[in-house]
Amino acid sequence: MTEWWRDAVVYQVYPRSFADSDGDGIGDLPGITSRLPALAALGVDAVWLSPFYPSPQNDAGYDVSDYRDVEPIFGTLDDADTLIARAHELGLRVVVDIVPNHTSSEHRWFQAALAAAPGSRERSRYHFQDGAGEGGSVPPNNWRSVFGGPAWTRVREADGSPGQWYLHMFDATQPDLSWDSPDVHEEFATTLRFWLDRGADGFRIDVAHAMVKEPGLPDWDDDGPMGGTAEITDDRRPPMWDREEVHEIYREWRRIVDAYDGDRMLVAEAWVTPYSRLARYTRPDELHQAFNFDHCVAPWQAAAQREVLTTSVVGSAAVGAPATWVLSNHDIVRHASRFGFPPASRGLGGIGPSDPQPDAELGLRRARAATLLMLALPGSAYLYQGEELGLPEHTSLPGEVRQDPTWFRTHQAEIGRDGCRVPIPWAAGAPSYGFGPSGRTWLPQPEAYGPLARDRQDGVAGSTLEMYRAALRLRREYGLGRGDSLDWVPELCGEQSLGLRRGDVTVVVNFGGPDLTLPLGAQVLLTSGAMSGGGAVPSDTTVWLRGT
Ligand code: GLC
Repeated sequence: MTEWWRDAVVYQVYPRSFADSDGDGIGDLPGITSRLPALAALGVDAVWLSPFYPSPQNDAGYDVSDYRDVEPIFGTLDDADTLIARAHELGLRVVVDIVPNHTSSEHRWFQAALAAAPGSRERSRYHFQDGAGEGGSVPPNNWRSVFGGPAWTRVREADGSPGQWYLHMFDATQPDLSWDSPDVHEEFATTLRFWLDRGADGFRIDVAHAMVKEPGLPDWDDDGPMGGTAEITDDRRPPMWDREEVHEIYREWRRIVDAYDGDRMLVAEAWVTPYSRLARYTRPDELHQAFNFDHCVAPWQAAAQREVLTTSVVGSAAVGAPATWVLSNHDIVRHASRFGFPPASRGLGGIGPSDPQPDAELGLRRARAATLLMLALPGSAYLYQGEELGLPEHTSLPGEVRQDPTWFRTHQAEIGRDGCRVPIPWAAGAPSYGFGPSGRTWLPQPEAYGPLARDRQDGVAGSTLEMYRAALRLRREYGLGRGDSLDWVPELCGEQSLGLRRGDVTVVVNFGGPDLTLPLGAQVLLTSGAMSGGGAVPSDTTVWLRGT
């Protein structure tokens, strides 16, 4: 029971798109509960649920209007209790999402702030500022929202006059909280305890590097995603991301979860570079883990992969934390599609109908190889719903069905994240491929999802689903997630290949070179694709071996 999270495989459920019990086209908690046995059978250790709290759903639930209840679309608090209890019965832990950087503009606090006067306690919980320029008509600084457009919106004061501005690093309906306010600390402590008391095993912390802003909110001339594209150095750090003071909040939170039994854990979503800065979130008195986005942006190339794996493992070991590994989530293009482009040619942003399209077959082949590499690494791995089916991104969603605020705030310049959020297929022959009883889905599913439905892969040798199951079983059996170092096999590491010893198992990856001959006497435990004649490892394939 101790430190289960160190080598845990955590499966991300995106509630809107996992399973719909009532036929309204949007997934819900009873739907998730009914499908938990499938996740237990897959062999994961824990489930992380993206937000299911009351929310106007302007950012698919990451705009929370009440942190201690359930959005009626998704069910009730009783449904949440039932879900947690059922998961525990099945031996699955439950990690819930917490969104502490911003609330929804419909949160009671923001409504109270709008009604209150400048300088009031109600406004001090957010970043309200007078504007610059004549009559305060210019935003207080030049910050840009991550979703596009200015990071400030002006309010009308109670008497109807144009008033102060409030900060929102994301959508205008997601006002940033001010962590200078003691009320905010207290509110989140109460919320953490609320879910811990209900049996949550941990929290995934949304934009965990964002909560503290530099005093005075100085201008910042780099509006790239999540803090900019310019090189960040100790002398030049963004005023809104990865501030030193944020660590104090996590020390406070660590004390809260440590007061509970059951080994609860905290994991940060923090887009922070370099890795040494990210590792600081996981020092012994802070969070248990932080998502390793360096890993998911690394191209499918031997040298790049070797470097990112080494940096991550060494960097995490330096603070005594496990590395984490993430290939897909609800914000980035699914890896089965991302890898369908020439290596290093494509970032994480969405793919639209008029963009270059991925090579689906190559993408899946590499995705499977990347997954088998990931699942043999020391540390904790995060899976995103549907990747165990090899689902591709939906790359031809028409503009009129898109819902991501990024699409609207950039005036359609950025496609956004809808393509990875499409409801997942369970049964090829059923309406909505078995997502729900009615055939309705909040985003249309691509035809490619039919043949990839779970029932088509269940028990089928060589299917992506069976590969994941076998990998998770062997990972457990051989303790592949344990340890905090990498043992490269020099004779298997070349320009287009890597070899890695993990206890009794040797992992061989061919990143696109000629067939690789296996060491003599090797017993093949699992492969991501068919072997070549003569038992060699073909390009874009990973093999787990025993007895080398
Ligand atoms: C995180 C979430 C993303 C959300 C954003 C704002 O990056 O993963 O989905 O839009 O935070 O809450």
